[in-house]
Amino acid sequence: MTTTPPARQSSALAVDSALAGALSTVRRNIAAFGDLYPDDTTRDDRYPLRPAAGAFPEGGNRGWTTSFWPGMQWLAWERTGDPAFRDAGLRHAADFARRVRQGEDLETHDLGFLYTLAAVAPWRLLGDEHARSAALLAADHLMKRLLEPAGVIQAWGDLSDPAQRGRTIIDSLMNMPLLTWAHEQTGEERFADAVRRHTTQLRENILRADDSTFHTFYWDPATGDPVRGATEQGAFDDSCWARGQAWGVYGFALNYRATDDASLLEAAWRCAEYFLAHLPSDGVPYWDLVYTDGSDAPRDSSAAAIAACGFLELARLDDDPERAHRAQAVGEKLVADLIAGYAPAQPEDADALLLHSVYDLPKDVGVDEGTLWGDYFYLEALTRIADPEWVTYW
Ligand code: GLY
Repeated sequence: MTTTPPARQSSALAVDSALAGALSTVRRNIAAFGDLYPDDTTRDDRYPLRPAAGAFPEGGNRGWTTSFWPGMQWLAWERTGDPAFRDAGLRHAADFARRVRQGEDLETHDLGFLYTLAAVAPWRLLGDEHARSAALLAADHLMKRLLEPAGVIQAWGDLSDPAQRGRTIIDSLMNMPLLTWAHEQTGEERFADAVRRHTTQLRENILRADDSTFHTFYWDPATGDPVRGATEQGAFDDSCWARGQAWGVYGFALNYRATDDASLLEAAWRCAEYFLAHLPSDGVPYWDLVYTDGSDAPRDSSAAAIAACGFLELARLDDDPERAHRAQAVGEKLVADLIAGYAPAQPEDADALLLHSVYDLPKDVGVDEGTLWGDYFYLEALTRIADPEWVTYW
């Protein structure tokens, strides 16, 4: 007879109970928001509806974070089989199809975050053809942002905007899986080429020699030469924004899976080791890794949730059993630390699944609040631990 050690049993119980609490919050939020979209972050731990802006009504589908909401619904459906989650996810998939067909708010590399969770997920789970064609349209649109001769996908803004021309950001690694998926679906090499070129440029330029990362980096639009790194949401140009480092862990890992380029696996580990070496004792980073134990700077729990998913992915991908084992243990420890110190004590205490994240401290937006992406990646990390066979949406 095999027996499970007591420490493992109690951590499994903690994950089960955290999952139950998180799923009850997702259920309550569906009732509260209907088919509308919550804002990027909570205010005092409650999500307001996304504010009206220009032609977009309150609760409208705009910005880069709306897909994290149906992403949570797909995870919830997979865990429970309750059709209420599936039906909510399908209504959002239809709205994302409308968004891409009507060309609404598409001038961003974050089409990857948006359409992987809102459209590729229902395609993978249900074979939904409308979602598939919407995701392919979004992938086509994302390809328009590939800059020649640099071979990078421009992150933000209109392609003719001189302030943004030639600039990309570490987060963009997470937008590549949409192109990888489009390559799998269509067989068109242009999608896979873009992934290879973009991720190589980031590995060579956005990852620094000391294994920290720049948040953003500029290439000369005319020559394609790398120019300089800069921050937008970090403390300083030469500091290391915690969430960016976490995007590096997960993003390089996913792009290693897509390309089989071993240098991307090493890049993921370089980001990972730097991240771990700069964690305070409770395992959840300050919003910028320049701050160390004892600082009163706010934490970014969303960075820990993203990194946890990255480590749990590395545990699946790395052929070296020792490294894979360590990645699994680190991923589980990060999740245990989040459950212990950063989830609401009772689900009804907050609309967020995960408290104490930071969106953009320099602009004083969403500081010490819940965030839609923190919630999504926390739920994904819990799912990965509860179900090691879970098939990713990315
Ligand atoms: N992708 C934007 C952010 O992480 O804030």
